[in-house]
Amino acid sequence: METGRVNPGTIRKLWPSEARKFRDHLLRLDAASRHMRFAHAVSDSFIEKYAHDIGDVGNVVYGLFDGDEVRAAAELKTIGSVWGLDAEAAFSVEQPLQEHGIGTELMGRVIRAARNRGVRNLRLVCLADNAKMRSIAKHYDADLRFEYGEIVGEIVPRSPNYFSLLAEAVDDRFGFMMAVLDLQSRIVKTNTDLRRRDVI
Ligand SMILES: CC(C)(COP(=O)(O)OP(=O)(O)OC[C@H]1O[C@@H](n2cnc3c(N)ncnc32)[C@H](O)[C@@H]1OP(=O)(O)O)[C@@H](O)C(=O)NCCC(=O)NCCS
Repeated sequence: METGRVNPGTIRKLWPSEARKFRDHLLRLDAASRHMRFAHAVSDSFIEKYAHDIGDVGNVVYGLFDGDEVRAAAELKTIGSVWGLDAEAAFSVEQPLQEHGIGTELMGRVIRAARNRGVRNLRLVCLADNAKMRSIAKHYDADLRFEYGEIVGEIVPRSPNYFSLLAEAVDDRFGFMMAVLDLQSRIVKTNTDLRRRDVI
């Protein structure tokens, strides 16, 4: 496959109402990627329930949108019911888009979101043979240590500052704007299609 940085779509936070898109993305992962993502074999019904909980308090999920579909995701989850010093992150990129720099981009967003929430230790729980996650973590000066066959990369984000808070806010605004523009263009397209067919 051709490699290199590409820009296939917009990265923005998912809304709780977009759980279906997140679910469809996870269900589209090939068997090996699904196994790597969850660090063990999971069923479709597990994913249905897992994605449904996207709106749980505290979870931040970034999605890479290709049109209306999510093709890659990064999750930042609290450990416990409120944000504390520790959080967990997980990443998934659909196979045709892997090794184009998307996981690295998503990692940057997750580290910034973690920093802005006061997280000190960001744990990436992956299988030991997940060489790509180790490569990505190295980009962000992660300190990796091995535990019982899993890689636990602990990233210590810097303290939040005005710029990191502003950058996340601007990104959210941009993401919202792109979502509205995308919705508008789909409404216009639907109306045009209906007019063509003399339905309205
Ligand atoms: C792991 C995953 C999220 C990475 O996303 P991605 O978009 O493919 O990653 P990127 O293209 O940003 O970066 C991949 C890095 O791994 C490197 N890499 C690829 N194959 C490698 C290998 N066999 N050994 C070492 N490094 C490797 C690439 O060179 C690149 O590093 P570089 O930027 O320094 O060159 C994605 O492949 C995926 O979804 N995999 C399945 C699910 C998974 O494993 N999730 C992580 C567990 S939470």
